[in-house]
Amino acid sequence: MTAAVTPTENRYERLPDEVRSRLNSRLQMISTPGDPPLPPPAIDSPPQAKPASVSLRNVSKTYPNGSRALVNVNLNIEKGDFLFVTGPSGSGKSTLLKLLYGQERPCSGEVVIGDQSLTRLRGNRLAMVRRRIGIVFQDYKLIPRRTVAENVAFVLWAQGYTRKEIHRRLWPTLKMVGLQDKAKCFPDQLSGGEQQRVSIARAVVGTPPLLLADEPTGNLDSENSLQVVKILKKLNSIGITVIVTTHNEHLVRLSNHPVVQLRNGYLRHLRH
Ligand SMILES: Nc1ncnc2c1ncn2[C@@H]1O[C@H](COP(=O)(O)OP(=O)(O)OP(=O)(O)O)[C@@H](O)[C@H]1O
Ligand SMILES: [Mg+2]
Repeated sequence: MTAAVTPTENRYERLPDEVRSRLNSRLQMISTPGDPPLPPPAIDSPPQAKPASVSLRNVSKTYPNGSRALVNVNLNIEKGDFLFVTGPSGSGKSTLLKLLYGQERPCSGEVVIGDQSLTRLRGNRLAMVRRRIGIVFQDYKLIPRRTVAENVAFVLWAQGYTRKEIHRRLWPTLKMVGLQDKAKCFPDQLSGGEQQRVSIARAVVGTPPLLLADEPTGNLDSENSLQVVKILKKLNSIGITVIVTTHNEHLVRLSNHPVVQLRNGYLRHLRH
């Protein structure tokens, strides 16, 4: 699914850096459903997606209201690893992922993705790192008035891919999550498991080297949960570094991947 970059000059490329950066961050998070503007295509092929290593070095995070979410966390994830992050509600799992994609910043310590420290990255440069991280949320965050195909294609479109390249990537990705027959459905016409698979397709259609999934099975029954984990493992087998948070001890026991546990913000390794 990877190829070399051939960026072309277009209206999107000519937008001021700050505008592009804000647009990219917004689109990457897909936090506000609706009909956001679509920048014109610029890229024929995606950046070469090298698997990313991740490390947290003495990272602590206390929110402004005094909630202590992470305490002196040290964690190294090698390129191409698959890691489960477990722990009870409020133990800091989502905070850990938010630090990895730069939505939150540590109060102390350092977060490094690949060879890049996020500590001083802002604006466009942070947006560039985020572009290389796929994110799957428990509550899917799909755009309600867009079809399955549009929801998945949208991320590429927003990043300036050509129609041809979007088409080339869209169908194999939908097939990979088993949704090729649902391409024209709207999110409210899908089951929870199917919606979660759309969100996975959306997260990986740009071939990110790193995939973060926050409780991707939290709303699913055991059969759908297994299916989602199977897809995540398949993505990992093609070289994507995958970090998954979960409450589901059963899912964790079913696999032999490394597991860390958070408790009151303290991290310990349960299985290497
Ligand atoms: N934006 C925020 N402002 C203040 N405190 C926060 C914020 N987000 C999280 N917290 C607090 O930080 C701690 C860790 O929260 P976090 O969401 O990381 O936990 P979690 O392990 O993901 O929990 P869950 O399993 O319920 O999703 C909790 O005490 C929580 O109340
Ligand atoms: Mg959480």
